[in-house]
Amino acid sequence: MWNEVKTNLSSAKVYLKEFLFFNAIFILLLFFIVENKIILITLIALILLFGLIFLNVVGYKRNRELKTIESVISGIRKNTINHPEEIKLKENLHSLQDEIQQMFEKERNDIEYLKRLERMRTEFLANVSHELRTPIFAIQGYIETLLDGAIDDEKVNKYFLDKANQHTINLSNLLNDLIDISMIESGEMRMSYRYFDINDYLSQIIQEMMPIAREKNIELVYHPAKEGLQLFGDKSRLKQVFINLITNAIKYTEQGKVEVLIVEESKYGKIIIRDTGIGIPQEDINRIFERFYRVDKARSRAVGGTGLGLAIVKHIVEAHNSKIEVKSELGVGSEFSFKLKK
Ligand SMILES: Nc1ncnc2c1ncn2[C@@H]1O[C@H](COP(=O)(O)OP(=O)(O)OP(=O)(O)O)[C@@H](O)[C@H]1O
Ligand SMILES: [Mg+2]
Repeated sequence: MWNEVKTNLSSAKVYLKEFLFFNAIFILLLFFIVENKIILITLIALILLFGLIFLNVVGYKRNRELKTIESVISGIRKNTINHPEEIKLKENLHSLQDEIQQMFEKERNDIEYLKRLERMRTEFLANVSHELRTPIFAIQGYIETLLDGAIDDEKVNKYFLDKANQHTINLSNLLNDLIDISMIESGEMRMSYRYFDINDYLSQIIQEMMPIAREKNIELVYHPAKEGLQLFGDKSRLKQVFINLITNAIKYTEQGKVEVLIVEESKYGKIIIRDTGIGIPQEDINRIFERFYRVDKARSRAVGGTGLGLAIVKHIVEAHNSKIEVKSELGVGSEFSFKLKK
């Protein structure tokens, strides 16, 4: 009991100055008002006693509040608190309670975010290793077969060399994509924005892509915009975007056509790449921009895809303060579009 009183009083020590100040005023007043010495001493003793009792009560309450705060903090530290609603303080400490709850929530979100990043990093590394392994194993296999004697067999030697060569091309494409991704994500990719003639620019890209389309018997059509239309962007980075989107359109189309068109709006030019291909299931549309995500892994790998193309496209389009939109219907076709400033 005495120990508790001592703790209470020591907790209330912060109010000691105020306590002494008011007591001194009362006692001074009593000196002037009360003449009888015995009454005066009794009153002073009573004032001091009540003062001490009051300090004890204040100290007791303060102690209890501090203990609750302490137990909340230790609960957060020891992870025994899992929800912000479990953080409860006395009514008069509502704003402190709100602050602690918000701090708890923010910390939990930060930790979740870091965990997610860590998971993504591990996943990314696993994907990279897996994707590197495929062409390296293939090249190794072809070289070993050639060394084991196939090199002298006129019927297959060129075929194996061609295959090995194709895999080195895939490997080199994969490495270039990885370098791009890491440059974009570390903020090292320098952009250089200029106005350029979109018709000249796109017709040239379409010409370059024509042989690939022709090889698959797919019609590749460009519908030019109004003559002289200038759009604003980084030409060399945008070339990566167009090559990726048009290559995809051709790769994932069995028959029909791929069209590139520009819809002019008041402040923007909207560029659309439309195909009559296999389409993308609705549930996959939001995921195709993730690194290494492929709707049909086997099919995509067969056409030489690693699933990095659209991740790069998204980054570059967003660096242009734009957003890439996708509309697609299974078996009917897909349409990718984004806007560039006029
Ligand atoms: N025009 C399209 N039609 C149908 N599916 C598409 C189309 N474009 C993309 N996809 C789907 O989205 C996935 C991701 O595309 P992305 O360009 O990122 O990878 P990829 O083409 O497989 O490989 P990469 O571009 O890295 O060589 C593809 O694997 C494919 O399943
Ligand atoms: Mg692609």
